[in-house]
Amino acid sequence: MEFTESSHFRSHDRPTYYADWAGAQVVLHKSADERKANGLYLTPVDVAEFMAAQVHGGKSEMRILDPAAGSGTLLCAVVERLASAGNRLQNAELTAYETDPDLHEPLAAVIDNLKRWASRRRIRVIATVEKNDFVLTHAHLLGTTRHLFDSLTSSAFDVVIANPPYFKIPKCDPRAQAATSVVHGQPNIYALFMAAGAALLRERGEFLFIVPRSFASGPYFRLFRETFFARMRPTRIHVFGSRREAFGRDEVLQENIIFKAVRDDGWQSRDSRFKVYVSSSVGRAGLRTPAGRVLPLEQALSKSAADKVLRLPTLKEGEAAVSLVDSWTGSLHQYGMNISTGPVVPFRATQFLHKTDVPIGSRVPLIWMNHVHAMLISFPNGTRKPQYIGREAVKKSLLLPNRNYVLLRRFSPKEEVRRLVAAPWLKSLVCCSLLGIENHLNYIYRTGGELAEEEAFGLAALFNAKILDTYFRVSSGNTQVSATELRAMPLPPLDKIRLLGRRAKTVNCPGDALEQIVGETVGIVR
Ligand SMILES: C[S@@+](CC[C@H](N)C(=O)[O-])C[C@H]1O[C@@H](n2cnc3c(N)ncnc32)[C@H](O)[C@@H]1O
Repeated sequence: MEFTESSHFRSHDRPTYYADWAGAQVVLHKSADERKANGLYLTPVDVAEFMAAQVHGGKSEMRILDPAAGSGTLLCAVVERLASAGNRLQNAELTAYETDPDLHEPLAAVIDNLKRWASRRRIRVIATVEKNDFVLTHAHLLGTTRHLFDSLTSSAFDVVIANPPYFKIPKCDPRAQAATSVVHGQPNIYALFMAAGAALLRERGEFLFIVPRSFASGPYFRLFRETFFARMRPTRIHVFGSRREAFGRDEVLQENIIFKAVRDDGWQSRDSRFKVYVSSSVGRAGLRTPAGRVLPLEQALSKSAADKVLRLPTLKEGEAAVSLVDSWTGSLHQYGMNISTGPVVPFRATQFLHKTDVPIGSRVPLIWMNHVHAMLISFPNGTRKPQYIGREAVKKSLLLPNRNYVLLRRFSPKEEVRRLVAAPWLKSLVCCSLLGIENHLNYIYRTGGELAEEEAFGLAALFNAKILDTYFRVSSGNTQVSATELRAMPLPPLDKIRLLGRRAKTVNCPGDALEQIVGETVGIVR
């Protein structure tokens, strides 16, 4: 595609706006699939300015890297910011990585425009556009944990700013192979940009990324967090409450955060009372006046916790939930319980699935996600899905004994009010010895025994209550509720769970009455 400047923009004075316009011209000619394949979702100007406003600079010479530059919007926003009053910037040395050939010409034009704009302010901008894959170029920094941060010091960057591409890369991709020390399985490419970007920063250099929140929790990113947070100290985090709105014009269905950190090797071993500022807004409109709070960093990222989950309590309520739940010392494991994922994957078990229970005795209930509501199982229901499974599936280990369980949905709809939806499954609900549980459900059971009814009610009530929902949201941006995360969740003493179960049995529907019982039983101060 040939890039032609518009006369309107040739004379435009704001480099960031020009970059935004230039990028939009390229995007116009791309199909949705092409954009998805390269993670081409450009940063809107207001988000870029919000990010750039967090760069302190303060030096006359700055080396700034954007490892996934697009049309250069973020670089322009940073230079504009550093050129503003109070900054001493005289020389800006920019490095922009960009692999898409369609963006090279616009990016060059944007940089030329930026140079002209800066020289009128007595700032010299020199820039290098690297057309190579950023991750592969820096694969040596990802190879082993030892090398990850053994980086250069003289050529290190003062600022790394990015909106990296987001997509999963197959295990066989050379970039995934280069990064086995930081990510397991099928990594998302944005984490590799974060790891390599951080490795290229100088000590006390500034790191600003807009990324999905998924790295902040969950087992897949545990190793990444351990290595990354050993060097990077979070200072400011903005959470977009809505999945759709961070990119406005582009349909990006990820929960995004703007993450600012400074490189501060070994900060966790120093006894300093670091703080982090956590803010949130529903979407871009709220960026001008985001609601935010300063927290002790220890509250967001506990030094002692092995899983290094980055918690983001954006509201006071979140902070209270975290401190109460953290004070609980029980767990499923401690109470002789466990949680697993339903074994029936329908497309692999089609020969066993049926729409009716006839002939009676040869088929047993198959419980799906849409049978499970807060505190309630509605089985059978009007679904067109097969609600029964042949008893012979037991030979394939697809069936469970019909016992008391707690069933939890593994997925919540994208903008669902609650993440955790749980119901007690009582064996008395159906008259058969076996049961099928579909793979979109998790189930809690007693190892080698059976949950008492009061335990099933008590756990379900707890998981449906606002306090655990809040705790879960603060700790994880995932709509997926993994068994691993629930296994690690602290629980109140078992006698309290049982008491809660006895009381919850008498409540017909969740809501205020259930919240009150949970609050009174586990000691939530209102
Ligand atoms: C999410 S866009 C962000 C662009 C720009 N920085 C902005 O904020 O508007 C990511 C950009 O990274 C580029 N990209 C994708 N993979 C890359 C790689 N491995 N190395 C360098 N750039 C890459 C894409 O072509 C795309 O322009």
